[in-house]
Amino acid sequence: MEEFSYMLAPIEDMTDSCFRTMCHKYGADLTFTELMRFQSLAKNNKPSWDRIKLDDDTPTVIQLIGSREQFLKKFLKMFNPEKGFKGFNLNLGCPAPNFVNQGVGCAMIKRITKTKKLADIIKDHSFEVSIKMRLGLNQYEKEKKVYLNLIDAVDAAFFIIHARSGNQTYKDKADWSVFPECAKTGKNIIANGDIKTKEDVELMRSYGCKGVMIGRPAIADPLIFAKLKGMEVPSTEEWKIEYQKLVDERNPSYKYEKNVLKHALG
Ligand SMILES: Cc1cc2nc3c(=O)[nH]c(=O)nc-3n(C[C@H](O)[C@H](O)[C@H](O)COP(=O)(O)O)c2cc1C
Repeated sequence: MEEFSYMLAPIEDMTDSCFRTMCHKYGADLTFTELMRFQSLAKNNKPSWDRIKLDDDTPTVIQLIGSREQFLKKFLKMFNPEKGFKGFNLNLGCPAPNFVNQGVGCAMIKRITKTKKLADIIKDHSFEVSIKMRLGLNQYEKEKKVYLNLIDAVDAAFFIIHARSGNQTYKDKADWSVFPECAKTGKNIIANGDIKTKEDVELMRSYGCKGVMIGRPAIADPLIFAKLKGMEVPSTEEWKIEYQKLVDERNPSYKYEKNVLKHALG
């Protein structure tokens, strides 16, 4: 891990390899695939495998969601890391009812034994594992500080903390007050949620966080990482031409291009 890392968040239907490559070129140290069920990968579902394909050496973590150990083991037996692969991330943050009702996504935050087992399986295959989580399923779990129990108990390379509980929407401001106590655990903490400015980044650094993860602000402005780092940036038009060239080469599903061009850089 860099001394302080800038990470592009996984955003479903947007952060495909073209977008990840562009964000890495312009400042993101590490990128993530959108979430993928390891059960679908274990069942050899081709569209699922297409979504975790890496097209170049952009540093990329593959994000997985699920709970059944046998499927994770089966998937890992089939998996061969490509250039750019930087480990797996377990999603303990998705609040979608179809996941929560199955006890995964942010319902996993209090399933510490299960999370440890999944993390151990990944490490047994000699791959790095990280965790992305919310603060709990709801306000009650957040107040019980279930997130701290998980951070303390699980051995992972880093923990990305999206500072909301599962029942909060994006209208509720992320609660950055949790970051100092997370960092005090001594684990590598990456702050996530509403981080946009150099001042925000400096605040996270002062809390003892080892990096920041940026999602929606990077969709609105994929040059945000370069700007935060003080790098030179191309014009919007130049960025779009470069992005389009990658899309033409890689020919991803049209939804990615449509979503990125609708939101990125106005
Ligand atoms: C449309 C959308 C799709 C998302 N997809 C994922 C996902 O696949 N995996 C994940 O861990 N988080 C996902 N997230 C959450 C983001 O990664 C991030 O945690 C959240 O947007 C807060 O960060 P931000 O304020 O920088 O956007 C998604 C968020 C949005 C808005």
